[in-house]
Amino acid sequence: MAISDAFYSEIDTAEPLSIIMKISVFRDKSTKQISNFVQGIVNKTFYYSKSARSKEIKKFSPLAVKKDLKDKNKLFLIAKDDNRIAGVLNGYYEAGMFWIDWIVVGSSFRRNGVAKSLMNYLEKKLKREKIHKIWCDCRTTNKESISLLKKLKFKKIAKIKRHWYKQDFYLWQKYL
Ligand SMILES: CC(C)(COP(=O)(O)OP(=O)(O)OC[C@H]1O[C@@H](n2cnc3c(N)ncnc32)[C@H](O)[C@@H]1OP(=O)(O)O)[C@@H](O)C(=O)NCCC(=O)NCCS
Repeated sequence: MAISDAFYSEIDTAEPLSIIMKISVFRDKSTKQISNFVQGIVNKTFYYSKSARSKEIKKFSPLAVKKDLKDKNKLFLIAKDDNRIAGVLNGYYEAGMFWIDWIVVGSSFRRNGVAKSLMNYLEKKLKREKIHKIWCDCRTTNKESISLLKKLKFKKIAKIKRHWYKQDFYLWQKYL
């Protein structure tokens, strides 16, 4: 099913890319497509252990996403190329900060600047909203994510051993 522009608000053209892409805040009531997109990638990512994978898949069910969208502290950004979802970023506001839960780009769209554009869009939006800090974590083995966060000038602030599903993590922050 094609996604209509009516599903989106705050449509903005991202910086020039080799693909045509728009970033927007996702507020659609029909969450099946975004859910399928994220669950498909969770299923394939080798960074997850078996138990992590099954928990994460539940977190992105259509119903769970629908519930999240009702929470004004939670945010989903979506990148689309024409009518196809290219990437998703989700997280939540807390105490004047924003926590990035996850950023994910479809495998056929990677290395095209989609993640960078989602993050840049997020930063601009949060600055307008007077949010003072973004923070997030990633597995110590996730080289793509580490490289992305360094490139975007996030600072590594801690290493957390045997953390989420006993995996090692880095904690990152960026002041806005
Ligand atoms: C991490 C991820 C979101 C990057 O998305 P992307 O759209 O391909 O990234 P971009 O094209 O915007 O690249 C931005 C920077 O990220 C880094 N990067 C992205 N992919 C990389 C790779 N395969 N190897 C090394 N660095 C990489 C680079 O620094 C890159 O900058 P450059 O292109 O100037 O070298 C994507 O690989 C992904 O969805 N991975 C699976 C989910 C995941 O692990 N998410 C992070 C959870 S913490």
